[in-house]
Amino acid sequence: MNGEALLSVRGLSAFYGDVRALSDVDLDVMPGEIVAIVGANAAGKSTLLRALSGMIRWTGRIGFRGRDLAALPAHDIVEQGLIHVPEGRELFPFMTVEENLEVGAYTQRARGRYQASKEKVFSLLPRLRERRQQLAHTLSGGEQQMCAIGRGLMACPDMLLLDEPSLGLAPVIIRTVYEKLTEINAAGTTVLLVEQNLKVALRLASRAYVLQNGRVVLSGRSEDLLADPRLTSAYMGR
Ligand SMILES: Nc1ncnc2c1ncn2[C@@H]1O[C@H](COP(=O)(O)OP(=O)(O)O)[C@@H](O)[C@H]1O
Ligand SMILES: [Mg+2]
Repeated sequence: MNGEALLSVRGLSAFYGDVRALSDVDLDVMPGEIVAIVGANAAGKSTLLRALSGMIRWTGRIGFRGRDLAALPAHDIVEQGLIHVPEGRELFPFMTVEENLEVGAYTQRARGRYQASKEKVFSLLPRLRERRQQLAHTLSGGEQQMCAIGRGLMACPDMLLLDEPSLGLAPVIIRTVYEKLTEINAAGTTVLLVEQNLKVALRLASRAYVLQNGRVVLSGRSEDLLADPRLTSAYMGR
């Protein structure tokens, strides 16, 4: 890795009350990369994304585009272009697809670009255009995931934080979602992806970090990790 990281994390610990859920995590994401965070259930993957987007208390250093995020509340982090697509999609179920997309553009950064962003999202995810008037809770699981990703794109991200986009989806649908992620990345958005689904994540990402009990226990290029016998033990059989 040469040049300046887009996201640079050093000695990150994160807490629920007094309980420490992440310990001393270091990681870097370079501009244009797709990087995966993998690990078993309860390893701390979602906690890491919550710390990055300012949703829980943390210590250490997080730099994004060279700026220290320590002093910034969550709504300012979003204005920096670091956008979190949460686990379980968290759409507004009784709002239409289009209204959910509109919510994504509610930042200063994105507001003025609403129409152009929506056109971009609809051309990338044509199914959302077809379903624009449909209530979010009536979408299939794959469509809901697309809608959550579309809402994230509406915020004009420099970097998307994606929490388990494959969760609960059939393999053929996972493939479609991941093809879209490749396109989104090719169009210029850096991606930090959290997955329990190891194979799927390492196929997409060029590099990955393996979390276990809130610590990074292994990291490297995806192809090297896939060939590394330590991966299975770090992952406890998954
Ligand atoms: N809201 C919460 N309050 C207290 N503990 C939590 C909360 N969310 C997660 N945890 C704990 O933090 C640890 C990491 O959880 P999480 O980041 O959700 O793991 P993962 O996303 O890898 O499955 C787990 O031990 C979990 O029980
Ligand atoms: Mg999680």
